[in-house]
Amino acid sequence: MANGGPPASFAQCSACHSPQPGKSIIGPTLAGVYGANAGHIDDFAYSTAMRESGLTWDDETLSRYLENPAATVPGTKMSYSGMRDAAKRAELIEYLKTL
Ligand code: HEC
Repeated sequence: MANGGPPASFAQCSACHSPQPGKSIIGPTLAGVYGANAGHIDDFAYSTAMRESGLTWDDETLSRYLENPAATVPGTKMSYSGMRDAAKRAELIEYLKTL
């Protein structure tokens, strides 16, 4: 993505997630999420399931979580059914790396 803007599929995330550092809404800010441990935003009230998932967000774990949040982190409070299209997930993950 030459201009670094969000892919169209980010519209499925932006009701709950901001890309701005420090700005958590229904979900935690996604700034700095790539490479971080799950549940890394100190002042966000994550589910116990997320905090204790032991995941680190890389290409593989993000792809699995975004495809099927409830199966990847059973008990997660992210109410999103999942993005089935692998190419769209890959595009989103590339965007998350820039945040
Ligand atoms: C209905 C609101 C909602 C939608 C839509 C949503 N999320 Fe979430 N997301 C959340 C919540 C709430 C959490 C915290 C989950 C928990 O604590 O179990 C979360 C957690 C996450 C995390 C883990 C963050 C961390 O700090 O460990 C990532 C990554 C993530 N979401 C990405 C996305 C992406 C990308 C999309 C769009 C495809 C999306 N989410 C759609 C609400 C949402």
